[in-house]
Amino acid sequence: MECFVLRRGLTVREITLRDFRSYERLELELEGGLVLVAGPNGAGKTNLVEAVHVGTQAFSPRTRADAQLIRFGCDGARVALRAERRGGNAAVEVTIIRGESKRARLNGAPLTATDELRSELPTLVFTPDRLVVIKGGPAVRRAYVDRTLTRLLPTRANLPRTYGEALGQRNACLRKIGLGFSSKEALAPWNEQVATLGSSLQAARVRSIELLSPRFADVGEALGLPDCKLEYSAEPLTLESLERRLARDLERGTTSAGPHLDEVVVLAKGRELRSFGSQGEQRTAVLALLLAEAELLTERDTGAPLLLLDDVLSELDAGRREALIGRLRGLGQTIVTATSDSALPARADQVIFVSEGTARAA
Ligand SMILES: Nc1ncnc2c1ncn2[C@@H]1O[C@H](COP(=O)(O)OP(=O)(O)OP(=O)(O)O)[C@@H](O)[C@H]1O
Ligand SMILES: [Mg+2]
Repeated sequence: MECFVLRRGLTVREITLRDFRSYERLELELEGGLVLVAGPNGAGKTNLVEAVHVGTQAFSPRTRADAQLIRFGCDGARVALRAERRGGNAAVEVTIIRGESKRARLNGAPLTATDELRSELPTLVFTPDRLVVIKGGPAVRRAYVDRTLTRLLPTRANLPRTYGEALGQRNACLRKIGLGFSSKEALAPWNEQVATLGSSLQAARVRSIELLSPRFADVGEALGLPDCKLEYSAEPLTLESLERRLARDLERGTTSAGPHLDEVVVLAKGRELRSFGSQGEQRTAVLALLLAEAELLTERDTGAPLLLLDDVLSELDAGRREALIGRLRGLGQTIVTATSDSALPARADQVIFVSEGTARAA
């Protein structure tokens, strides 16, 4: 059987958990490129994948409420990882204590902002919740494209945040003027900032989608979903377009044009997947987007991202499972969960069996 080739990139070698959800204490060594985490429903597979995500990104892909990560009846949770990446080894520790702010250390040094980990240890995750990228409203897709651009265009990574802040200031100013607490002149600096940052954000989204699109089509095709496309429809934001809408914006107290209202449409087979895709097609599209991004990142100096695929195999037919594994071979370390160790159509480099509160390598 063909062996899984591990591309250079982020590779987790060891994970230690303390009072993290279903795990009171766990020490686990990970080996190889394709790691299968298997066990019955409720055994702790998602908890384990989530812990790896917390260890590399400092947040859960499932919840923003960090206290939920703490084992019932305990005061705190800890995740420690030992990993390899381009540029050397990484030892990470993330500590969550009820009522305190989360702490992270990288190679012993405390990080001032826990989100610093995100750029240090690139990780992409699939969970069934991610179907919302296709099924959800436009805001979810905008947020998805913005997250992607922070990874694909690191020099422009701050744009979604800085635009959001400028927009918030302009909206606050509009409301003050509406209430008679401020004059229209006060709006000028915010108009300028919103127009400049907004058009830069639109350009960054266009570029990010341009980078992603050919891969998305290619991976989609390989996974049996032809003609995958991403379309971005944006009305270019300019100072003039803001000024034209000033009367309406003042009346409503909110900015009525800009990237915060643009639409991103995901299509396959010439149809919009949100309205017309089957559950399996929507799942395949989310997966194709994730793999497309992973392929692009793998070719860069930072190396392959770690891939976490929770519950990806259910609802994929045998042909698509096979195609997925084929595509993963060109990428970095992948941790995939399934209820059975026979769910993968290829031999995993390592199988980890999870049962209530414990996990052990086969
Ligand atoms: N804070 C917590 N403290 C202790 N146990 C928890 C906590 N949060 C969740 N659990 C338990 O962890 C167990 C494992 O959940 P998990 O989602 O990891 O299962 P799973 O193996 O992914 O199952 P499935 O196959 O159904 O997806 C569940 O029984 C859940 O009740
Ligand atoms: Mg699960």
